[in-house]
Amino acid sequence: MKTIGVLTSGGDSPGMNACIAAVACNAARKRLRVVGILGGFDGLVEGRGTELDEKCVSDIAGRGGTILQTSRNGDLKTRLSASDIPDTFGRLGVDSLIALGGGGSMVAAKMVADTGFPVIAVPCTIDNDIEGTHYTIGFDTACNHSVRAANDIMDTAESLPGRVFLIETLGGDTGHLAVASAYAIGADAVVVPELKADIAGMCRRIKTEMDSGKACAIIVIAEGAGPSQKLADQIAEVTGRRVRPTVLGHAQRGGHPSYWDRTTARRFGEMAVQLLLDGGSGAMTALVGGSLTDVPLCIPVGASRALDVDTYHIINRSAQ
Ligand code: F6P
Repeated sequence: MKTIGVLTSGGDSPGMNACIAAVACNAARKRLRVVGILGGFDGLVEGRGTELDEKCVSDIAGRGGTILQTSRNGDLKTRLSASDIPDTFGRLGVDSLIALGGGGSMVAAKMVADTGFPVIAVPCTIDNDIEGTHYTIGFDTACNHSVRAANDIMDTAESLPGRVFLIETLGGDTGHLAVASAYAIGADAVVVPELKADIAGMCRRIKTEMDSGKACAIIVIAEGAGPSQKLADQIAEVTGRRVRPTVLGHAQRGGHPSYWDRTTARRFGEMAVQLLLDGGSGAMTALVGGSLTDVPLCIPVGASRALDVDTYHIINRSAQ
C-alpha cells in the first residue's frame, strides 16, 4: 500500500477535520501518500482529488465541517459498479480508502470493501446512531451546543418566570442527541421519534409542577419527533403558559470540535492508517465499552443503534 484516499461523506460533523489531519500526519510519518477525495462518494465517482500532506492539514484540526466537503451518497449503488472500482481509484492514484461519515456512508464504504478494495471506515455523525460503536465523532460537540443553548435560555427563564421552553435538537430520525442533551441539561421531559410519548400526561405533570411554584420548564424534542411548534401549541393549551420553541438547526452541526471529539477523531484517524498498514479492510473504528477498537463493517441499510431507553424514562419520570 502506497497511497491512501480519504473522503468525508453524508452530513459533516465537528471533528472530521481533526481526523483528516490525523490520517495525513500519521501516513506521512509512515512514508505513505494521502489523497483527499473531494465531495464524498460523488467526488470519488467523478475522480476529484487533492494531495494532502502535513502542511495542508496543519491548521484544520480545530475547525468544524470538513475541508474535503461531502455529498449525500444515496445513489452510489447506481453510479458505481464493482467493475468500476479499479479504474475509479486508479484515476485518483490511490490503493486504499479511509471513509468518514454516518450510517449511510458506512453502508457505501462496505459496498466498496466488498469488491476487495481495502477500506477502513470512521464513524462521524452528530446523531451517534451507528450500530457497532457507542460513539461517533461530533456527538459531544453537538451535545455541548444544546447545553450552551439551555444555559442561555435559562437567563430568560429566570428573568421571566412561568414559561415553558422547548429545545429542538437535530438527530435525523433518531433521538440519541435529544436524550443525551436533555439528561445533561436536567430537562423536564424529552420527546423522541423512537418512542410514543404520553403528551397529555406530560402536559398535566408540567402544569401541576408549575401551578405549585416551579418557575419554568424545559422540554427537549428531537427534530424527528417534531415539529416543535405543534408540541408547543399542545403544551400551551393544557398548561395555559407561554411556550417558546428554540430550533437549534444546523448551528448544532457546526463549531469547533470539543476536546473529546478532537481526541477521538485523532485516535480513530491514526488507528485507521495502522489498520490499513496491517492489511485490514472492511472494518470500522469504534468505541466499545469505553475502549477504542475496530469492528467488522457490516451495518445493514437503515439500521441504527438502539436508544438509551433507561435514560429516556429517567428524564420523563416514567415507568418502563
Ligand atoms: O445526519 C446528520 C444530520 O445533521 C441530522 O442530524 C440531520 O437530520 C441531517 O443531518 C440534516 O441533513 P441535511 O443537512 O442534508 O439536511
